[in-house]
Amino acid sequence: MELPLADDLHVHLRQGDLLALVAPTIRTGGAGRVLVMPNLKPPVTTVARAAAYRRELQAVAPGVEFLMTLYLSPELTAESLVGAAAAGVVAVKSYPKGVTTNSESGIESYAPHYPLFAAMETAGLVLSLHGEVPSDPDRGTSILDAEARFLTHLEQLHRDFPRLRIVLEHITTAAACACVERLGDTVAATITVHHLDLVVDHWAGRNHNFCKPVAKLPSDRAALRAAATSGHPRFFLGSDSAPHPRHDKETACACAGVFTQPLLMPYLADAFERFGRLDRLRDFACRFGREFYRLPRQTGTIRLERRPCVVPDAYGPVVPYRAGETLAWSCE
Ligand code: NCD
Ligand code: ZN
Repeated sequence: MELPLADDLHVHLRQGDLLALVAPTIRTGGAGRVLVMPNLKPPVTTVARAAAYRRELQAVAPGVEFLMTLYLSPELTAESLVGAAAAGVVAVKSYPKGVTTNSESGIESYAPHYPLFAAMETAGLVLSLHGEVPSDPDRGTSILDAEARFLTHLEQLHRDFPRLRIVLEHITTAAACACVERLGDTVAATITVHHLDLVVDHWAGRNHNFCKPVAKLPSDRAALRAAATSGHPRFFLGSDSAPHPRHDKETACACAGVFTQPLLMPYLADAFERFGRLDRLRDFACRFGREFYRLPRQTGTIRLERRPCVVPDAYGPVVPYRAGETLAWSCE
């Protein structure tokens, strides 16, 4: 199959040595354009910092188009967004406090940010949401229903800012699929590769499959598969590829994140073929995302071949998704 270069609208590219390892694998995996998450240490909270981060990425992977995000925080004001577009910033990412990797400076309430959302609506910036409420077992909330309970926040934000484009990231539940579909044309969702196959059993006790939001029940997985292959234009690819060194995964208190960047399109082709919907791969990975983000077509192409491909045991210190397994597809 010949496809355009994919748009991967949610990636973690890290800093330092890990950045140098991961950024060059974007093209290998078949993507030519990525939306870069801002949860660095410290988080990317200014346009100047996003521009500097982008230059760093471009130096390591010149063939990739990097779309940047800012981390929603009190530092971020309507005035501070001046020059955002010129710096390649297309979205502001919101992490609820403490729900995932590097979210210690995340937010606790959306109300204080309403002036910013109004400015974003006018400027055409996208609001990108990590859609989980913080766990509070004493009040009946755990990581299993954290996403479903977040949906009222999404509905409220959409009601208050109907023209603001909002992306609910890395959805994992049937409830999120239904909610996004029900809301208007300005609300979309990204779906990862790994959530198309994982359920709770695959990550409990298996740290390399542990990510946030955690994979849920078989019925949720069925809904995600249906959404991704439905041809609905508001469900598209965001891999949430999130590399962590082995020592941060193979430990009693593991970091959340699954690394899929280097074999992104082979994983996806493998999955879509098993679902009997290879015909829907192109729109999911190469069209719907860029249309929602109002981006032009990419010019490069990739070739996906039905040739077995063994997933390496490791890329440097990082263990990839499905390490050691054989995928049915290879990508050039
Ligand atoms: C991400 C990371 O490692 O930065 N981890 C993850 O499990 N997805 C953060 C995130 O997107 O939640
Ligand atoms: Zn992420």
